[in-house]
Amino acid sequence: MSEQNPIPQHVAIIMDGNGRWAELRGKERYEGHAAGVEPVRAALRAAVRRGVKFLTLYAFSTENWGRPEQEVEALMELFCQSVVRETPELVRQGVRVEMIGDRSRFSQKVRGYLGQVEQETAAGETLTLILALNYSSRSEIVRAVRRIAGQVARGGLLPEEIGEETLGRALDTAAYPDPDLIVRTSGECRLSNFLLWQASYAELYFPEVLWPDFTEDEFDRALEEYARRDRRFGLVR
Ligand code: IPE
Ligand code: IPE
Ligand code: MG
Repeated sequence: MSEQNPIPQHVAIIMDGNGRWAELRGKERYEGHAAGVEPVRAALRAAVRRGVKFLTLYAFSTENWGRPEQEVEALMELFCQSVVRETPELVRQGVRVEMIGDRSRFSQKVRGYLGQVEQETAAGETLTLILALNYSSRSEIVRAVRRIAGQVARGGLLPEEIGEETLGRALDTAAYPDPDLIVRTSGECRLSNFLLWQASYAELYFPEVLWPDFTEDEFDRALEEYARRDRRFGLVR
């Protein structure tokens, strides 16, 4: 629609291709993950520069626990290191860090670091960075349904009062608008259990670039592609 805002309010990224990037260079998979930190900085800078208000990054799926123990441990270590190292710059840029997913499965150490970055960036007003950690859409929906069922069981809610907003409010993403644009790098064209409910009317974009090679220009290209899309939401012009 011509009146559509050319800048998406909420961009969500499935950061994929770290393993393949490493393999292509004869490196270990964890080196690919380490190389995926700079592109996070680039995406953030670009999002701030372009006036995006919410940036969600899929960093670790519930299914990713099934990877080799060594790789999972390297990722946990990387999360801890990165949040500590990046916090001052996040504060400087006015970025508030929040999280979706089930944090209870992380070690106390990891939860401590995550809680710390949330606290220290809580005053940020430029952009909200939402990290999806131990996130899967189906488990998020199941947790939300349990919450709603609890309300019904306690007599606080009638089944016929349950609407789309009831579920939306019970999800981890309750405080955020739905993503306008979902980007998945590495050429894979699937959502892999990411924001299934929230993606109902999102524009999807699947660039070939592997995540460690993602740059500010790539982010701009995604926004250019978004600006060309005609979002109709089931209506006619
Ligand atoms: C994405 O890169 C990072 C995580 C899932 C944590 P991958 O590790 O999935 O990279 P590929 O898909 O194997 O190349
Ligand atoms: C999705 O990527 C999860 C993250 C990027 C964190 P995967 O690499 O785990 O997904 P599949 O296995 O290709 O579907
Ligand atoms: Mg992958």
